[in-house]
Amino acid sequence: MPAVGHRKTLQEYLTSEWQDKGRNGGLGAVIMAIADGSCRVEHQVRQASLADALGATGEINVQGEIVQRLDTASSDIFVETLSQSGHVAAIGCEEIERPVIVEGDIADGFIVLMDPLDGSSNIDVAVSIGSIFGIWQKSPGEIVNEDSLLRPGKDQVAAAYVVYGSSTVLVLATKGNVCGFTLDTESGAFALTHPGIKIPAECPYYSTNEGNNKVLDQPTQKAITLLRNKYSQRYVGSLVADFHRNLLKGGIFAYPADQNRKDGRLRLMYEANPLGFVAEQAGGAASTGYQRILDIVPQELHQRTPLILGNKDVVEDTVSVIKAG
Ligand code: AHG
Ligand code: MN
Ligand code: MN
Repeated sequence: MPAVGHRKTLQEYLTSEWQDKGRNGGLGAVIMAIADGSCRVEHQVRQASLADALGATGEINVQGEIVQRLDTASSDIFVETLSQSGHVAAIGCEEIERPVIVEGDIADGFIVLMDPLDGSSNIDVAVSIGSIFGIWQKSPGEIVNEDSLLRPGKDQVAAAYVVYGSSTVLVLATKGNVCGFTLDTESGAFALTHPGIKIPAECPYYSTNEGNNKVLDQPTQKAITLLRNKYSQRYVGSLVADFHRNLLKGGIFAYPADQNRKDGRLRLMYEANPLGFVAEQAGGAASTGYQRILDIVPQELHQRTPLILGNKDVVEDTVSVIKAG
């Protein structure tokens, strides 16, 4: 008997739970395209060292960062599965300078923005990495062009991420509901293992790059010192893995702006918006330190943002220290 056993598979969950709530079937197809792509990426991640597929491509991406071979492979896989889902009108990707506009008349088309592989410094060293997706729905009849992707995070209809860790977990958030599914590597199906995720009331952990402390401004240093004095530190260095732990166990992640990164390190459209949406649906919060992440009106597809993410009360306390100056 497959390990999935009595559990609902992702496919069963989407057809039963979502149909009951009258949700659009197109969104289910987009989620299955993410799930199918992540099974392929998971396989590549596990086999990469054996297949001599690790290391850099020698290219620098639009972010000015070194491109790993698995970054490119993951990007190609998800562009393929999403384009072929029949329900995606446009894709924005951290690794691709201009949006991919999918040809064809897709009345209920969705717009997907993604970080196909998050955690570049951990790819070669067998540490958890992941993939992150924000999903918007275009209006019926709307002709999608490059500007159509510049939508605020609060308009997302769903967000999802996958962690390739000690197990492979897909977390899916829609309005008011966050669920986690674990990949059964024998059957290739994701099974519902974490229904109704809510971020715990307690916040035992903070996650930040302490090496950046010396380049923080004084109020931000003060805010981080308060976190350090109160909580245990956990920092994987893959946002998606740090966030996943904090979502399940309680915690706050902070990558603020600093002297070297005036706009912060992380990407608004591919990282902060999707995980901010997941956090809010699970009862948490996401802020730049001055503004709710999901309220930002994007100016540019690849723009960066400071990010403070996790337990709502702790995010609010941290923001108030930063704002007080
Ligand atoms: P990516 O691999 O998509 O470029 O993202 C890496 C990000 C994020 O995952 C992580 O939180 C952060 O980089 C770590 O940065 P530092 O190494 O500066 O701590
Ligand atoms: Mn990333
Ligand atoms: Mn990435």
